[in-house]
Amino acid sequence: MSTRRVAVVTGASSGIGAATARALAAQGFRVVCAARRTDRIEQLAAEIDGLAVACDVTDAESVAGLAGAVGDILHVLVNNAGGAFGSAPVESADAEQWQAMYDVNVVGLMRVTQALLPALRASGDAVLINVGSTAGRNAYETGAGYTAAKHGTKVVTQTLRLELVGEPIRVSEVAPGMVHTEEFSLVRFGGDQAKADAVYAGVPDPLMAEDVADAITWVATRPAHVNIDELVIKPRAQAAQHKVHRV
Ligand SMILES: NC(=O)c1ccc[n+]([C@@H]2O[C@H](COP(=O)([O-])OP(=O)(O)OC[C@H]3O[C@@H](n4cnc5c(N)ncnc54)[C@H](OP(=O)(O)O)[C@@H]3O)[C@@H](O)[C@H]2O)c1
Repeated sequence: MSTRRVAVVTGASSGIGAATARALAAQGFRVVCAARRTDRIEQLAAEIDGLAVACDVTDAESVAGLAGAVGDILHVLVNNAGGAFGSAPVESADAEQWQAMYDVNVVGLMRVTQALLPALRASGDAVLINVGSTAGRNAYETGAGYTAAKHGTKVVTQTLRLELVGEPIRVSEVAPGMVHTEEFSLVRFGGDQAKADAVYAGVPDPLMAEDVADAITWVATRPAHVNIDELVIKPRAQAAQHKVHRV
């Protein structure tokens, strides 16, 4: 039986999640890679000697399957599955897209956390990291559905820290600003590559998935008594949500 510490990363099939799975594996963790696209997570798990578990965080049965595959002991949980769907003023926003964003970024996080808390507790020293966003700290035009959901991620994180105080579980949020991942903006704009590219146009150096993975891994590997409550990480070119240097 493996003696490696165990980590679960949701949304491990692309972007920040995949990079985090690789970074944690490089630190010696046995990483359980969870997402809906099985081909991608199976390939990743083979590469890092981890385990692929097909999981839709919006489906209770699927999340129960993840918990079953993880087993009795878990050291690190990275609730990363999430995203933005659509971009529209409140006046013309799509209610289904708002519901879908709340379901994956907030309720999904709650489902996975509920299912895995017993194993985190049983480890005797666990770290739970939720991937929030600077969208959970600011408002921007046409972004209310996503910013509302990511404010939810932040507040659930803060609540969990209060509820779990005294237990051997640290609770953190890593909140990135602009990260140039392949799919995030493509998903947001329903596959419109030109609109997705425009988000990063002229930005000299946006963050890459590996930068955020590095931050998450740092949070996950502090000594047991050190809780990083929240870590906001932005590219140098982004001074604020609206203030982005472009060349
Ligand atoms: N990119 C940015 O600028 C940025 C900035 C701040 C915060 N974030 C946050 O960082 C996280 C990762 O974003 P990213 O940039 O890496 O985007 P991404 O490449 O689109 O990754 C999203 C991941 O979430 C998974 N996912 C989506 N719905 C899911 C569901 N119902 N069940 C399980 N997995 C699901 C996707 O996998 P499957 O489709 O295979 O299920 C994918 O692996 C998200 O929470 C996002 O909100 C991103």
